[in-house]
Amino acid sequence: MIKDITGFKIFNSRGEPTILIRTTTDRGTFYGSAPSGASVGRYEAKTLNIEKSLRILRRIKVNFIGLREEDFEVLDEMVVQLAGENFENIGSHLGFALSSSFLKAATLNEPYTYFKSLSFPYPIGNVVGGGKHGGGTDIQEFHLIPTKVKSIEEAVWTNIEGIKRIKEELSKLGKLYGKNDENALVSDLDDEKTLEILSKVARELDAKIGIDVAAGELWDHKKGKYVYRKTNKELTPVEQLDFMKELINRWNIYYVEDPFNEDDFKKFSELRKWRKRILICGDDLHATNVKRLKISIKYDACNSTIVKPNQIGTIGSAIKFSEFANENGIKTVLSHRSGETNDWIIADLSLGLSPFIKTGVWGGERLAKLNRLIELWHRIEKPRMAKL
Ligand code: PGA
Ligand code: ZN
Repeated sequence: MIKDITGFKIFNSRGEPTILIRTTTDRGTFYGSAPSGASVGRYEAKTLNIEKSLRILRRIKVNFIGLREEDFEVLDEMVVQLAGENFENIGSHLGFALSSSFLKAATLNEPYTYFKSLSFPYPIGNVVGGGKHGGGTDIQEFHLIPTKVKSIEEAVWTNIEGIKRIKEELSKLGKLYGKNDENALVSDLDDEKTLEILSKVARELDAKIGIDVAAGELWDHKKGKYVYRKTNKELTPVEQLDFMKELINRWNIYYVEDPFNEDDFKKFSELRKWRKRILICGDDLHATNVKRLKISIKYDACNSTIVKPNQIGTIGSAIKFSEFANENGIKTVLSHRSGETNDWIIADLSLGLSPFIKTGVWGGERLAKLNRLIELWHRIEKPRMAKL
């Protein structure tokens, strides 16, 4: 039975305030904390100021006290009901942190036990960054994706070895400037030169390449063009489509996230029809929202989707979204946010729901998720990587 719920202000990896929730039950004390995005899509659940959220918590917690913590779905649905249509009543930080602590309370701090069938996700590792996360490229993220590995440890190692080699290459060129919000490397090389280095290292390690264009951030609504500031070019949607095809062909890209802005289902579907065997992934396009995924399916816009629980507000809604995607043959990518805490719950969720997990490659808040996966690999009977 839930005895008390308390909230605290803590700070995320970018130094922004966020929420830590402590739920106390007869069986123990369970914590959940919320991440935050920087390249936030238009269709995400609303966020509120943290002080305000903590005041709201003090007001609404009576609704939960005395209820059974085993009934995770009931508690999560109550959060959704209290939140209002777009989370304007409680904010998504509070929604995420509450539902996370509830799932931990229901499973005695082992959220992966919530799921029947478990397989380990392939980590999509952000190795070079730009865009809104800081860095020289217009494309927001460049990924290594080790899909041929036999264990999660090998997968994590491949991405770490990969980022070390890329770091060395950038150093040799005198183009390494540091790390960004997600601990991806920052240089002032442009998109194509970055892909050249990435592709060399990917070949050496037998890994695949991905990009998150985060094209919503490049899209200038007034001009009706994608504006590439670093390389000084402006592309119409048709030119953007051609540019994406060119990059995919030249660099043999396997995973492309948000190649167009979040309203252009049509262009997504044109790219998807052109090359069926690679992953075209919607992040801001879907915003972890079943209604938006249904539109996407109608257009055949994507065969893959990002799942970010704080985009839809609660863990329970993100689980429903993932299950709906899985039923419709859409590959899910459980994703961190650029501003993270050391909470690892998305690792447990990915084990039950997704063939991929997207996190950074190193840095404490990113490794918290990856190391949790390694820990679970050694705990679960007959662990196996997901089928692709
Ligand atoms: P965000 O970036 O967490 O800043 O939104 C991640 C992404 O766009 O995938
Ligand atoms: Zn994205």
